[in-house]
Amino acid sequence: MLKIRNLTSLQTPFWYYDMDLFRRTVDEAAGAARRWGIVIHYSIKANSEPRLLSYMRQQGLGVDCVSGNEVAFALEQGFEPSKIVFAGVGKTDEELLTGLCAGIASFNCESVEEVERLSELASALDLKANVSLRVNPDVDAHTHKFITTGLETDKFGIPRRDVDRVIALLRGSDRLNFKGLHFHVGSQILDVESVFSAECQSAGEIVSHFESEGLHVRNIDLGGGLGIDYYEPDLHPVPDFDLWFRVLRSQIRCSPDQEIHVEPGRSLVGQCGSLVSRVIFVKRGESRIFVVADTGLNDLLRPALYGAYHKVENLTSTASETATYEIVGPICESSDIIGEDRVLPLTSRGDVLAIRSAGAYGAAMSSHYNMRTPARAVFSDDLK
Ligand code: LLP
Repeated sequence: MLKIRNLTSLQTPFWYYDMDLFRRTVDEAAGAARRWGIVIHYSIKANSEPRLLSYMRQQGLGVDCVSGNEVAFALEQGFEPSKIVFAGVGKTDEELLTGLCAGIASFNCESVEEVERLSELASALDLKANVSLRVNPDVDAHTHKFITTGLETDKFGIPRRDVDRVIALLRGSDRLNFKGLHFHVGSQILDVESVFSAECQSAGEIVSHFESEGLHVRNIDLGGGLGIDYYEPDLHPVPDFDLWFRVLRSQIRCSPDQEIHVEPGRSLVGQCGSLVSRVIFVKRGESRIFVVADTGLNDLLRPALYGAYHKVENLTSTASETATYEIVGPICESSDIIGEDRVLPLTSRGDVLAIRSAGAYGAAMSSHYNMRTPARAVFSDDLK
């Protein structure tokens, strides 16, 4: 169960960040990466809180961005251009220029058209662009279909049939500095051994093809995707980075002059964050008891969008008896359900709830819907 100092004096709703757990998670990831010789670019889309970014930067992590604004923000937060990679299927000219002028480590290009445009823009500015190619590996991540990205039917990556056209483009342009290949098969992957082995198998074949064409693949970026335990966050507060890296290292063939890169998002920031909310009313329906909280899908969209499970705890009830509740938010949408059929100690108006494992894709995907004021961030370090 989550413990927060001075809980009752804090105004809800708020994102609570357990900074000790956050630092422990980053330290474990960075330590495992050093042991296995892997380079980490944190996927900033998961959570862009400056205090989290600052620690990751100090620990030597780079960033993976998916928009020009993310690139600009990462630069503002002090990340060196050489530590920034930039993916995304729809980069506008303006976004490409942001990365080009900064001289980022790599554009992870997702189409023939993008490679062509990048070459034109680089030539117009008399610059060189560092390019990696995100190739669609056609691998099933066995996760929610909205967060599966590596199937041939998904919009992401260069289709395999276009690979030779891109190779020709790279050969024909003196503006493109080929760095390597990029893959990302999906998110919240729990079957680490089998999914990442399949990714490595497919990636290995594509790397070999490039090498046989005389293009040296210096960086092999295997993306993010390591999942977290939404059901038992206290049993598994830190994901098994060591297992993930061991699988990658053992399954991909790699020469000493090649680097393995990864782009974890959720696994670095998911478990340290909780959304803390107060119960406004407890309302008895005909067949259900609704706990109406002061946060909803405006703050945390994941349950409504993916049917995602987040553990909910009542931090203040001292009752020993329990009841089954439908925990809902105040938003005018029937999908605004935080948790269905949840057993909690008897819950009343004014109780404080913690919605756990909300550090990744929580604040980052929040909105002002219904003109609600967004939840603010509270850091455990400030409550000591
Ligand atoms: N690299 C690329 C190219 C990505 O597209 C993503 C996530 C990552 C890395 C980081 O993946 P992670 O390690 O976090 O699994 N909003 C969804 C997740 C969308 C993930 C999008 N791409 C959710 O709340 O579950």
